[in-house]
Amino acid sequence: MSDIFKGSLQLGSIESVLAIVAAVIAIVVISKLFKGTPPKPADSSAPSKSQPSSSTEQGSEDFVEGTVARTSDLADGEMKEVTLADTPVLLVKEKGNFYALSAKCGHQAAPLKNGALCNGRVRCPLHGACFNVKTGDIEDYPCVDAIQTYKVTVKDGGVVVRAHKDALKTHRRTPQPHKRDPTVKETIVIIGGGPGGYTGAETLRNEGFKGRVVLISKEPYLPYDRTKLSKQMTSKADQILLRPKSFFEQNDIETLLGTEVKELDPTTKQLSLSDGTTLAYDHVIIASGGDPRTLPVPGMNLANIYQVRVPDEANAIINSVEGKNVVIVGTSFIGMEAAACIAKKVKSVVAIGMEKVPFERVLGFKIGSALQKLHEKNGVQFRLERVVKEFKGENGKVTAVVLDNGDTLEADVCIVGAGIVPSTKYIKAGTLNIARDNSIVVNNRLKAFDGVYAIGDVARYPYWITGESVRVEHYGMAQAHAKTAALNILGKDLEIRNVPFFWTTMYGKSVRYAGHALSYDDLVIDGNVEELNFIGYFVKGDLVVAVVGVNKDSAVAAAAELYNAGRMPSASRVKEGGLDLVKLAGSV
Ligand SMILES: Cc1cc2nc3c(=O)[nH]c(=O)nc-3n(C[C@H](O)[C@H](O)[C@H](O)COP(=O)(O)OP(=O)(O)OC[C@H]3O[C@@H](n4cnc5c(N)ncnc54)[C@H](O)[C@@H]3O)c2cc1C
Ligand code: FES
Repeated sequence: MSDIFKGSLQLGSIESVLAIVAAVIAIVVISKLFKGTPPKPADSSAPSKSQPSSSTEQGSEDFVEGTVARTSDLADGEMKEVTLADTPVLLVKEKGNFYALSAKCGHQAAPLKNGALCNGRVRCPLHGACFNVKTGDIEDYPCVDAIQTYKVTVKDGGVVVRAHKDALKTHRRTPQPHKRDPTVKETIVIIGGGPGGYTGAETLRNEGFKGRVVLISKEPYLPYDRTKLSKQMTSKADQILLRPKSFFEQNDIETLLGTEVKELDPTTKQLSLSDGTTLAYDHVIIASGGDPRTLPVPGMNLANIYQVRVPDEANAIINSVEGKNVVIVGTSFIGMEAAACIAKKVKSVVAIGMEKVPFERVLGFKIGSALQKLHEKNGVQFRLERVVKEFKGENGKVTAVVLDNGDTLEADVCIVGAGIVPSTKYIKAGTLNIARDNSIVVNNRLKAFDGVYAIGDVARYPYWITGESVRVEHYGMAQAHAKTAALNILGKDLEIRNVPFFWTTMYGKSVRYAGHALSYDDLVIDGNVEELNFIGYFVKGDLVVAVVGVNKDSAVAAAAELYNAGRMPSASRVKEGGLDLVKLAGSV
């Protein structure tokens, strides 16, 4: 004990003793009063209010504590939103233990009670972020912040939650800044400022890397949420940044924006940049994503033909379509999300697709056909099983689109959503294993070469569930790759085992998808596809390779968790029907 502390105890010791005796008597009286007075039984639809209790711990004025539920209110594998000091808290019961954590997701604050609980993790129904129930740490993405957890004890059949007042004020837990140690000479360079690049840089710092971290992006912006570009096209880059500039400064993450990597030579561990400089690295994370595919047809360079990869393009589209004839080329996710975004503003919108129905390649004919009707109800017209032969223009601006059958569509604005080509042209020829689709082939640790990792849209890797070689274009997967690669650079030896998950919402109908179906034999439907209220299981042999849900967000979150736990039911079980995926996930 320090001398200062000893002195303060001696000073006024009689008053201290009297105060302690008075406090103990008060606590005994209060606890007798509360004993046997159970809190109100919880109503499963409304959050239950906590009953206050007292605490004798030092600094207890900084904490709040209350009985939030009876132990019998929750079955094992169940979650419930309760209230502590007027703040919603998620109460979880698993294997007889209770855990309390933020009620809202660390991504966009969706209520986690509607998600799925499985094996120590809770997955958000909205976009699939996943948190550890004991620590609140991120188990899966797309979020940048973890969530709060609170202390739980069980007393006289009541579940008592104790929380620091500050931890109740915000559901997010942003990592503390971690600085560089200038004496550490190791340099890790990240090529690309998308979600993958950002998460790689942050993970390196969070996990204690003290050397130099340099993030290079050819875009002029700090990392931002790219998924917003086809859903909220008015979003400006600075409104959707993943972190403010100060975050990068506080974490000593150097950002070279508006700078393109012109050459990467893995044999010399050297980069050449567009500003004429070179940069040596010890490790590099390639997170350069993809460039939007252009169409090899005349007129592609005319003005008012846009692609949707960067904020300026999304903003230009939404600012130019009011009352105009718009033609969209491509009937998969980006094209159709853009159609839903602009449908109410335009004079006409026609979507051109090569397949029989929109979304056919990913979701199949039946679901694609139902989604086509949804778009048609909202004014979108389709020209399917067609390709563009030419864009025609006047004064340098597009005026019409000519199809392969000779039909001509009037067009003031065109949006081309024809997929991406992995951005790898800058890699010195003959060094890395580049696949036919331009992606970088990596192993299940995401390693491409000595000191080189490739992640996100640019990486082709062995998928742990099926063993197939895949390239997954999902936002959260780019982040998951980034974390795994960063940890592997720091000496861990981790296999990439995250579950692919993506989402879209059009005209209020939410589509969620977990797993990855490169191909499938059958689609087993539980629900009503025409009414857009169903779960679909893509099966291959006796394996369910992917699960899609429309307006079934909780079930798809549960499916992702069942994949993660290795407990997805077989195709034969799915065909029997009557599966409750959320309940099943909770029972793991
Ligand atoms: C409009 C739109 C909507 C989407 N919506 C969803 C969705 O709802 N859900 C979902 O899961 N996914 C969605 N996606 C896909 C998702 O955004 C991508 O899978 C994800 O962004 C991939 O991340 P990444 O870090 O691998 O690459 P990217 O996000 O593509 O980032 C790559 C970065 O590298 C930079 N770069 C490239 N080459 C170089 C170079 N030579 N030098 C320097 N910098 C370079 C690029 O400029 C870019 O900043 C959407 C994509 C788009 C375009
Ligand atoms: S709000 Fe939870 S994942 Fe987006």
